[in-house]
Amino acid sequence: MRAIQIVNEEGPDKALELVDLPEPEPSHMMTPGSGVLVEVHAAGVSFPELLQTRGEYQMKPPLPFVPGSEAGGIVISAPEGSALEEGDRVAAFCMLGGWAETAVAPEHFTFVLPPELDFEQGAALVLNYHTAYFALRLRGRLAEGETVLVHGAAGGVGTASLQVARGLGAKTIATVSSEEKKKVAEEAGADHVVMLADGWKDEVVEISGGGVNLVLDPVGGDRFLDSLRSLREEGRLVVVGFTGGSIPEVRVNRLLLKNTEVIGAGWGAYVMSKPELNREIGAAVGRLIDAGIVRPLIGQRYPLEQAAEALHTLDERRALGKVVLDVR
Ligand SMILES: NC(=O)c1ccc[n+]([C@@H]2O[C@H](COP(=O)([O-])OP(=O)(O)OC[C@H]3O[C@@H](n4cnc5c(N)ncnc54)[C@H](OP(=O)(O)O)[C@@H]3O)[C@@H](O)[C@H]2O)c1
Repeated sequence: MRAIQIVNEEGPDKALELVDLPEPEPSHMMTPGSGVLVEVHAAGVSFPELLQTRGEYQMKPPLPFVPGSEAGGIVISAPEGSALEEGDRVAAFCMLGGWAETAVAPEHFTFVLPPELDFEQGAALVLNYHTAYFALRLRGRLAEGETVLVHGAAGGVGTASLQVARGLGAKTIATVSSEEKKKVAEEAGADHVVMLADGWKDEVVEISGGGVNLVLDPVGGDRFLDSLRSLREEGRLVVVGFTGGSIPEVRVNRLLLKNTEVIGAGWGAYVMSKPELNREIGAAVGRLIDAGIVRPLIGQRYPLEQAAEALHTLDERRALGKVVLDVR
């Protein structure tokens, strides 16, 4: 099968190689001896792969390895007793190995893809939408009628969070850095879009009538302090990532002043050993698909052999929706 391997840690231009490999066995490292084999049609591109090309991601498999945590495709085989069967269209979270014509995923991380969604949307579904639900609802306790501020709103996590928040009955305010990204956030269903410029925080406070209930933050960096200032009493800021580069620090007296909280949301490591929770989140996201609210927005698409280009779109802050590789 054709696959992309990471062969060194010298960054996207030098670390990736298109290779020919044997098909994988139906066994996944998270569920040894068991796994769903998937004929991959589209693969997701996300920050961990970019970091892996530089040896900067927390999980460091021995070189060379096939990266790619997300796949949209067709089941080739499923473990005994599984509700999945050969020929099912699926969205799978495989953690590694997705940038290949065949990948293997744990059964509890493989979800039937409804007919409304294509393979690219399948490749965009698990990581971002499960993270969005986990961060907003399970960690951030988002309730109907509340207002959420979503940073990085035109990106993968951002567009997913706008849709999931809407599905949970919340109002959304999106921040973006360009007019092009503003259109993407609007397409993802943002109620209001605020351009990142001096005074964005005042605009958010005004739109929300005194502050938001929740901030969903995949960016971090120097906007963190103004994010805290955007919260109303008892507001929560959910930390999801640090695309802005730096990891912010907080003087905790700020939390005391308005009775606010800073909450961490690390989806992958938390859910990995909890099959039931995965199914529960999958079912919740499934209901939002059925309701017509969750529709992954696909941004730039590249053939498998242009994976380096795909990583550059993330690295250079150019992603418009979810970036995917067309594998076949
Ligand atoms: N905690 C978890 O469980 C979890 C799960 C999934 C992903 N993540 C993390 O969430 C983050 C976002 O992932 P994503 O897939 O949504 O990425 P993405 O599609 O590239 O979007 C990231 C957004 O961050 C903003 N940004 C600000 N400064 C940036 C910079 N210097 N470089 C790149 N982007 C910058 C951009 O929005 P503006 O230009 O509009 O500011 C961009 O749209 C990543 O750090 C990822 O690792 C965490």
